Amino acid sequence: MKILVINGPNINMLGIREPDIYGSRNYEALLAYIRGSAAEAGVDVDCFQSNHEGAIVDVIQDALGKYDGIVINPAAYTHTSVAILDALKAVRIPAVEVHISDVDAREPFRQISYAGMACAQKYAGYGFEGYKLAILWLKENVNN
Ligand code: DQA
Repeated sequence: MKILVINGPNINMLGIREPDIYGSRNYEALLAYIRGSAAEAGVDVDCFQSNHEGAIVDVIQDALGKYDGIVINPAAYTHTSVAILDALKAVRIPAVEVHISDVDAREPFRQISYAGMACAQKYAGYGFEGYKLAILWLKENVNN
């Protein structure tokens, strides 16, 4: 099974940005955690991060025919991007939404998720572990 993990804007600033919300570990640590989780689960994983909405749309489109599942933390684009929602709907690759923080317990504007409308499952507020839970969910629920 091949999974693509996509992280949106400012996730590359982990460790620096709002550590009280996102923790003190950096993006490199997140990548190591994701790769370790995928290896443990016996799935292949590629990771992508961008601060640009169109680049995220491009990588979702390019995933067609290459990946069996997508784990996506669209970060701030979660709450604004119909383009990312439409890209996920276009490729119809099973997708799981992840947020490091518990978005549902934060500001009202974070409680709207466009990308989530095209995702089969959501893990929010589990820190890095949400990515592992998403990988395991795809492994359990997607036939390939
Ligand atoms: C986030 C939550 C979003 O509301 C925020 O804009 C982010 C990160 C999270 O992982 O908790 O950048 O997606």
